Amino acid sequence: MKHPKHRDSVWNGRPQAVLLAFLTLSASGIVSAQELGDHQYTSEAIQAGLRVYSRECALCHGPQGDLVSGINLARGQFRTASSDDDLRSVITEGRAQGQMPAFALREEELSGVIAYIRAGFDPDGVAIRIGDPVRGRELFTGKGRCADCHRVNGEGPRTAPDLSAIGVMRTPAILQLNLLDPAAAVLPINRPVRIVTRSEETITGRRLNEDTYTVQLIDSEERLRSLQKSELVSYEVSEQPSKQPTDLSSDEVADVIGYLLTLRGAP
Ligand code: HEC
Ligand code: HEC
Repeated sequence: MKHPKHRDSVWNGRPQAVLLAFLTLSASGIVSAQELGDHQYTSEAIQAGLRVYSRECALCHGPQGDLVSGINLARGQFRTASSDDDLRSVITEGRAQGQMPAFALREEELSGVIAYIRAGFDPDGVAIRIGDPVRGRELFTGKGRCADCHRVNGEGPRTAPDLSAIGVMRTPAILQLNLLDPAAAVLPINRPVRIVTRSEETITGRRLNEDTYTVQLIDSEERLRSLQKSELVSYEVSEQPSKQPTDLSSDEVADVIGYLLTLRGAP
């Protein structure tokens, strides 16, 4: 057997090297709070929200946010609400004939208590803004061009991961990182590969799985392929993510995250 060739450019054939590169990237690649700008709530807002929550909400919802049945505020389980705007209207208008009273809060108090809920009740946590899923869906297929690569509920190409159940698989923070800094978020296994076989076929695609003797991938024609490594002349794994950070605005990113969180079906 001719051993698969390794190259030193952006492509690299050694899975261990790829994993290492990934670890380094994610250690250094975490987006700083400053870069995130208004994609997320500030820690001041979250801390202020804790005070509002303890004063106005804890009596009924409890210190852990789980005392009203069917609702767990700390875990983001609501009855009808999904976006931050929905939370605003619940809090300012009330629900269920005043069993959930209407509150007249100042703007900082209102956005603070929403931030505290979105941070999962962790005053030192991170609170991602979550926008309107209906607008998010339009952006997904339209301006955001996500549907050019991603498949949802049986529609769209297979070249990128199927997102039909992404809402139960990933946290808002990870979803946001995928959009703002794909290089830091990419799973090593999902990396783009380029392969040349002994029969001189060149195959490009996205790796799905790999063991000592075989590699499985989705090729550029969306076919699922399983290849014996002994049949390969060269096998290169890219260290670059196959996508660019999104150029959507922070409001639009919040909307897209709102939509992704509604995707809870089987892929
Ligand atoms: C007097 C008790 C009471 C207080 C105080 C209260 N709530 Fe509620 N809240 C409820 C009840 C009861 C419901 C369920 C309403 C229903 O049946 O739809 C609820 C529902 C909610 C929901 C889910 C609404 C939906 O339809 O998904 C949110 C979010 C919420 N409350 C947030 C808050 C926040 C934030 C505060 C403090 C600013 C607060 N609540 C204060 C009793 C209260
Ligand atoms: C050019 C093709 C392309 C476009 C456009 C694209 N993606 Fe991706 N996306 C990928 C690929 C490929 C991956 C797998 C990781 C990688 O290689 O970077 C991925 C990964 C993801 C993941 C992580 C999946 C997981 O299993 O964790 C999410 C979420 C995601 N994309 C959402 C989006 C959204 C939302 C948009 C639109 C704003 C978008 N993508 C646009 C190709 C694309």
